[in-house]
Amino acid sequence: MTATLHSRAELRAQVRTWHRDGLRIGVVPTMGALHEGHLALVRRALAETDRVIVTIFVNPKQFNNASDLSTYPRTLDADTASLTPLGTHVVYAPGVDEIYPAGFATNVSVSGVSEGLCGAHRPGHFDGVATVVAKLLLQTGADKAYFGEKDFQQLQVVRRLVADLDIPVEIVPCPTVREADGLAMSSRNVRLSPEDRAVAPRLAAILTRTAGALAGGGAAAPLLAAATADILAAGFSEVEYLELRAEDGLGPLEQADRPARLLVAAWLGGVRLIDNVAVRPQ
Ligand code: PAJ
Repeated sequence: MTATLHSRAELRAQVRTWHRDGLRIGVVPTMGALHEGHLALVRRALAETDRVIVTIFVNPKQFNNASDLSTYPRTLDADTASLTPLGTHVVYAPGVDEIYPAGFATNVSVSGVSEGLCGAHRPGHFDGVATVVAKLLLQTGADKAYFGEKDFQQLQVVRRLVADLDIPVEIVPCPTVREADGLAMSSRNVRLSPEDRAVAPRLAAILTRTAGALAGGGAAAPLLAAATADILAAGFSEVEYLELRAEDGLGPLEQADRPARLLVAAWLGGVRLIDNVAVRPQ
């Protein structure tokens, strides 16, 4: 039976009982509008821990665009319906006042890994993510927390946050789940028109091909320029960034001389898509 809890008090009471019984707790923080990418995290959490909490909270602090926040899909009933058959123990769906009560005045800001990439284009975004993730990890008292590599920079921000603030939780990274045509699953994909949905998988295809070329160790700049031109030619209106970064610490690289990540954000018909793939030097 999946219980849906809306308040910190109810959550705390449940967590206290589980801890007293020596049960290990897994948490999967989400903003809802769940798809197979989220559910893969939940299945992993269910396999590795005794009790699983899925948090569903559309966090206003991490949206730097009011219309993105107001149009973000909210589908709590459908989300609960897809979590129940998996055996999820608790859905924690707090209201905004429960997370940010009157007088809330704390901001958690992680420097370094949050700079550049999405951080450069979405001011305040990673402060919002770090603040809410810190709260959700503390509220759930989880032993393990599951995050997708789909949001690779977010994963690094969360790792840094947990290490720096001594939050006693293990961060478990999970591979990106893709549609059959390669498009990374995302709650925002439903906003794509049928025509744009047909173009969207080109992004992953170009990324994968470019990662293969970069793995050869040559200069990144010409390969990235060619890939940017290909993304635009495919029908995307803007490439916000396309960068080669070190997997460890996300520092910029001019060539793949160590384990690296190729990361992209691009706009298609008013929808911002992000993706990334590993670059393994040969
Ligand atoms: P959301 O976009 O709902 O994603 C919740 C979790 O699911 C994140 O860890 C994300 O990386 C993972 N995820 C999303 N799509 C995925 C895919 N295709 N494959 C694998 N994992 C995927 O990320 C957030 O919410 C928020 O920023 C949050 C961490 C909940 C803080 O508000």
